[in-house]
Amino acid sequence: MVLREAFFVFGDKMIDPKRHLLRLNDWSEERILETVDIAMRLKKEIHEGKPSTRFHGQTIGMFFEKPSLRTITTFQVGIHQLGGAAVILDPTSIGLGKRESIKDVARCLSRWVNALVVRSFKQELLEQLAEHGSIPIINALTDDYHPCQAISFAQMFLEQFGTLRGKTVAFIGDGNNVANSLTTLASKVGMNFTLACPKGFEQPKAVIDETAEGFKRHGTKYRVFNDPKEAVKDADILYGDVWVSMGQEGGKDAKQAYFLPFQINDELLSYAPAHCMVTHCLPAHRGEEITDSVMDGNRNLSYEEAENRLHAQKAVLWQLMSPTDK
Ligand code: CP
Ligand code: NVA
Repeated sequence: MVLREAFFVFGDKMIDPKRHLLRLNDWSEERILETVDIAMRLKKEIHEGKPSTRFHGQTIGMFFEKPSLRTITTFQVGIHQLGGAAVILDPTSIGLGKRESIKDVARCLSRWVNALVVRSFKQELLEQLAEHGSIPIINALTDDYHPCQAISFAQMFLEQFGTLRGKTVAFIGDGNNVANSLTTLASKVGMNFTLACPKGFEQPKAVIDETAEGFKRHGTKYRVFNDPKEAVKDADILYGDVWVSMGQEGGKDAKQAYFLPFQINDELLSYAPAHCMVTHCLPAHRGEEITDSVMDGNRNLSYEEAENRLHAQKAVLWQLMSPTDK
């Protein structure tokens, strides 16, 4: 089997998606599973007090246009654990595309740092940085995708359930960036993906199209339900996220009204199999998309997933950066 992943053209330049983590769909099943393996090994090394210093003396830029607790903290801690240094870049000061062109910022940063972690609104910004720079670009969340979250979920799920294949994740809520990357993950690794959302909040057609081949190849299912009780019936894990994502706060009250029946609470869990667990990418809005009772209950794996952000992201860097002594 040829494992070549397509180059894609952006502007007049070819971007090799394997040099970056722009979206999970650019990575093969083998590479995703290998990344989870590396993450597990790095986690073990930390617990045994024997961390690798693979990136000793290297520097990684962190450019975040949206707020963050988990992603910005875990990248910095992880880079430190691997012997490198993180440099926080201030979007207001840099004025990307306003004070200076994206092209020139990408070219300059490529002379100073070994990789760039970016949280942005537009997916296109990451593609432009990848096009004009010469360093790996890592997607730390855009309006469209959150690949690091999906890899951390895969690690957590494997730790808890022992396998990904044939298992079912039911995402309850908005067909958003996190849902998109989980759908990609599921299509690649042989999981079933269920979305439970109000009508009109489904995922973009592009995501359904780009994941269809993976679901077909594995014989797994992509399903959408507008009734959350139906959606959870055969789920191994329920996945929660905010109803209103960062940058989409306009019309928040109206949107929330549609989502009230989609709260992850004890009643909804009673329709799921007894073994079904729950996770949430966090931050959770307790009392909105998920109740205190579920968040504080013994079926919640959100904090295990959050812990793995640290190791999964180190594994992503491991895949994309050359070790210092090479
Ligand atoms: N889940 C996640 O990405 O959290 P932050 O927004 O706090 O980084
Ligand atoms: N969908 C959420 C995820 C936060 C980690 C957002 O984009 O705000």
